[in-house]
Amino acid sequence: MPDLKVSKISNGTVIDHIPPGRGLDVIKILRMERGFDNTLSLLMNVESSRLEKKDIVKAEDKELTKEEVDSVSVIAPSATINIIEDYGVVEKKRLRLPDKVEGVVDCPNPHCVTNTGEPVEALFEVVNQNPVELKCSYCERKFKALELEI
Ligand code: CTP
Ligand code: ZN
Repeated sequence: MPDLKVSKISNGTVIDHIPPGRGLDVIKILRMERGFDNTLSLLMNVESSRLEKKDIVKAEDKELTKEEVDSVSVIAPSATINIIEDYGVVEKKRLRLPDKVEGVVDCPNPHCVTNTGEPVEALFEVVNQNPVELKCSYCERKFKALELEI
């Protein structure tokens, strides 16, 4: 049993089993790096039994929408979302990658119509689940999710 490095939270969400190094991207993809006023902790490279190491994000008094849960699955499909109430885990969600990913990550192709000022939101088709690979529905280029700028 590893030491508890950050205290348990009373209410909110714990995103656990994030691949090491991706915790900050999880915070960014949820747009919590600014404008989120509650306590937010990021643990990086925590010892874990299931993975060798993992990152954990704990957000007090935060409930994720379905769209937010889906966006986490793009960069951390192995993560577990724990809903915390009164210090207890009341729900544990495994992630499922959706078939299409809309408005979560930008297309890295600078010439793509989604990057030329047109009012179109980035849209990708998931062409591979593990490792996650996305295909832009506009320029049709393929990208590994781990290579994307978040
Ligand atoms: N946690 C927390 N605050 C709480 C309850 C749990 O921060 N009040 C955190 C735990 O530290 C852990 C995660 O939420 O990182 C999941 O908790 P729990 O289900 O109790 O742990 P495990 O059984 O180890 O989870 P798993 O089986 O998903 O590995
Ligand atoms: Zn594109």
